[in-house]
Amino acid sequence: GWVHSVRSQKEVLFLHINDGSSLESLQVVADPSLENRDLTFGSAVEVQGELVKSPHKMQNMELKAESIRVVGPCDTWAFPLKMKKRHPLEYVRQFPHLRCRSNTLASLLRIRSEATAAIHSFFQDNGYVHIHTPIITSNDCEGAGELFQIEVSWASESAEKTHFFNVPAFLTVSGQLHLEVMAGAFTHVFTFGPTFRAENSQSRRHLAEFYMVEAELAFTESLQDVMQVMEDLFKTATSIVLSRCPRDVELFHKYVAPAQKGFFFSFNSSCRISYSEAVEILKQASQTFTFKPEWGCDLQTEHEKYLVKHCGDVPVFVINYPYDLKPFYMRDNEDGPQHTVAAVDLLVPGIGELCGGSLREERLPFLQSRLQRYGKPTGASVQYLDLRKFGSVPHGGFGMGFERYLQYILGVDNIKDVIPFPRFSHSCLL
Ligand code: 4AD
Ligand code: MG
Repeated sequence: GWVHSVRSQKEVLFLHINDGSSLESLQVVADPSLENRDLTFGSAVEVQGELVKSPHKMQNMELKAESIRVVGPCDTWAFPLKMKKRHPLEYVRQFPHLRCRSNTLASLLRIRSEATAAIHSFFQDNGYVHIHTPIITSNDCEGAGELFQIEVSWASESAEKTHFFNVPAFLTVSGQLHLEVMAGAFTHVFTFGPTFRAENSQSRRHLAEFYMVEAELAFTESLQDVMQVMEDLFKTATSIVLSRCPRDVELFHKYVAPAQKGFFFSFNSSCRISYSEAVEILKQASQTFTFKPEWGCDLQTEHEKYLVKHCGDVPVFVINYPYDLKPFYMRDNEDGPQHTVAAVDLLVPGIGELCGGSLREERLPFLQSRLQRYGKPTGASVQYLDLRKFGSVPHGGFGMGFERYLQYILGVDNIKDVIPFPRFSHSCLL
């Protein structure tokens, strides 16, 4: 492991070494004669000896060293991490290659690993088939113009400037359309992979590369079913994480989250309002907003925050958004001429939007008329329409931002601190 602390006394040398398996380090007790100049904080060591019961209350075991070998020395002066110091997250962010050696990031990454497994097991246990949706795609699912286009590196040098795939290709913004294909064969499917958005934002909740958990359910006619899966996923995954890595989670709740005003997470109760109700609530607010709330406009972060507070700082499901505000695939509620669609966003305290989902338009004529706005259907949209001809069923689904989920349960203010290597505009370190 790596040396986390060295304490040299006249008669005994104490080391704490850590191999990354948990927050706890192994105490090594050695004869001072085994001390060596290279045995410093951060160095990699191999210790041979006898594992014995520890007389100290704080630990079960300790290692009585017979030999200590420094495998890789560490220049303590130059090493950006210092012994027994709790470095601010902003500070360690400058060292993407070293910050996983700090306690906070190490705990985070162990929690992230457990949370990934918990999400997979939630879906597997509930009969969902896991689908690897493609990362390279020719469709823009969300239509929000946040695509990264892919070209081969030698494209500009080649005489003919043809696309590698013959068509423009992009990094995926969502696996939803591919999941809809699969829901038409497997009923319940999910995917959990990297997602890319060219959002030119430095916000504390946006990344250019993030992980999204997406589920799609066939034979579903009500948004309630979709909301229930969101809630069950949240509750199950979170209880697994809390039971699998209590010490790592405790570190966040004790030392990281308190810095954040109003942190807590819970799903014991939740609230459900329609978009129209939300706009009314915002219009009646005594607070003045930078963006004036108006029916037909997107909810801004300040609006989401207000709504969550207004509902008593609990998760809030906002349903039935304006037709023109949402992507082409959302199902028309038929509550007026193209008035609202069956969309749902889940807003949570401290974060804002955690999940976004909807019922999908499974009716061919409705979808055709909506797609006509974009001109003659081509490629992917022909296939998407095809699905409505061959055994189409009512279906729906959602996506949950995995990093936002981690931020919420751990109380981490900045999304850059819950992913091993954050990518955002003007930054792609390592
Ligand atoms: O609301 P979004 O855009 O929904 C979709 O993409 C749907 N096609 C999903 C589906 O129905 N299968 O994104 C889903 C979630 C958001 O609620 C948010 O938590 C997260 O993905 N998200 C981001 N997280 C980090 N950085 C970004 N730039 C994000 N954009 C969205
Ligand atoms: Mg959304």
